[in-house]
Amino acid sequence: MRSRRVSVIAGAAILGLALAGCSTASGSPSADDPNQVEVFTWWAAGSEKVGLDALVDVFAEQYPDVAFSNAAVAGGAGSNAKAALASRLEADNPPDTFQAHAGAELNDYIEAGQLQDLTSFYEDNGLYESFPDTLIEQLTADGAIYSVPSNIHRANVTWVNVEVLESAGIDPTVAPDSIDAWIDDLTTLQESGVSAPLALGTEWTQMQLFENVLIADLGAEGYSGLWDGTTEWDSAGVQTAIGHYGELLEFTNSDYAGLDWDAATQILLDGNAAYNVMGDWAEAAFVQAGQTYGTEYTTWATPGTEGIFDFLADSFTLAVGAPHEAAAISWLTTISSAEGQKAFNIAKGSIPARTDAVATDYPEYQQTAMASFQEDTIVSSLAHGSAASVSWSADLSSAIGKFGADRNADELLTALVAAAAAQG
Ligand code: GAL
Repeated sequence: MRSRRVSVIAGAAILGLALAGCSTASGSPSADDPNQVEVFTWWAAGSEKVGLDALVDVFAEQYPDVAFSNAAVAGGAGSNAKAALASRLEADNPPDTFQAHAGAELNDYIEAGQLQDLTSFYEDNGLYESFPDTLIEQLTADGAIYSVPSNIHRANVTWVNVEVLESAGIDPTVAPDSIDAWIDDLTTLQESGVSAPLALGTEWTQMQLFENVLIADLGAEGYSGLWDGTTEWDSAGVQTAIGHYGELLEFTNSDYAGLDWDAATQILLDGNAAYNVMGDWAEAAFVQAGQTYGTEYTTWATPGTEGIFDFLADSFTLAVGAPHEAAAISWLTTISSAEGQKAFNIAKGSIPARTDAVATDYPEYQQTAMASFQEDTIVSSLAHGSAASVSWSADLSSAIGKFGADRNADELLTALVAAAAAQG
């Protein structure tokens, strides 16, 4: 009886997913109709879906005969999508194209033989000249290139509620210059009655905050050394970062474990927190809430990380065994186009991957990010697939999540060291 009930529920869920997947611009083509493309992302809802929709609109203009089939799986940073995608790839049931982060995460798919080589697509379309060399490197393995970048995001951004800071007598236009100075301001805010001035969310957002603190305490070179073995995971800088991170958790909302990034950012939007460390997809949430940059909210590089750009990029692949290969190439062409990049990135809060973009076409926040990407030292994001493989970042994520529950600094340090050792 019990198992029947479960299977009825599971059946309903599968039907729901199937129906969601069939929401195409021009009806629901049959599976063998080549004029459709199934696109897998985690931009399923809220401000992230608004970004995807902007891209789909350009796709519909450029390829009116190709139906877009949305296979998005909800959950920030791909927290559910990556496992769902792994099951599909394992079962030889790939979507035509899927979202993957440039860098180590993409390499995992390349090494598993799950991606088609896009070198001739790049050559035929002049794309080697369209993207920055640093990004081309992160998409390349053994001389071949495997995905098309849609955007560049920055992960070391602190979002600031102007009114909350001003009410506590703190100048929101001046960023504290270190984590210690920031902790002084957090203390002032708490004493003035803001009980949880630093908004935080679920495990991956904790990992992203920890990554910001590592960058602040180790500097760009020391932080990058964590990924190439030149910085020891039990070094003094990492231990300082663990101490700082533990102190920062004292200023956060106690329900963080259950909140995705958008719910954490919402606390700031509602005026119930002063700060949220979040990648710049948060910009889209502020815009959609109708807030004005510089007046109601502002941004800084996270204290201690000024002059550093913590980089990640979303990119789109052509899966091995893609059922609708020509249509998938059309999708990749839209992503690579100046028009597609402009529509998507204005809506998404990110900056275009293409180097021919015109800064003044973009809102004020993105203009700051474009300038910083040009001038700053670039480091790779841990929480968003650029710095470490999926298995390494999964180990680090659970260690950091566990610390969020037990605050045991010695165990966190031991787990960080063990995770690096496990990579061989
Ligand atoms: C990142 C992704 C961004 C944004 C964010 C929150 O991993 O690169 O585009 O979607 O997750 O979900």
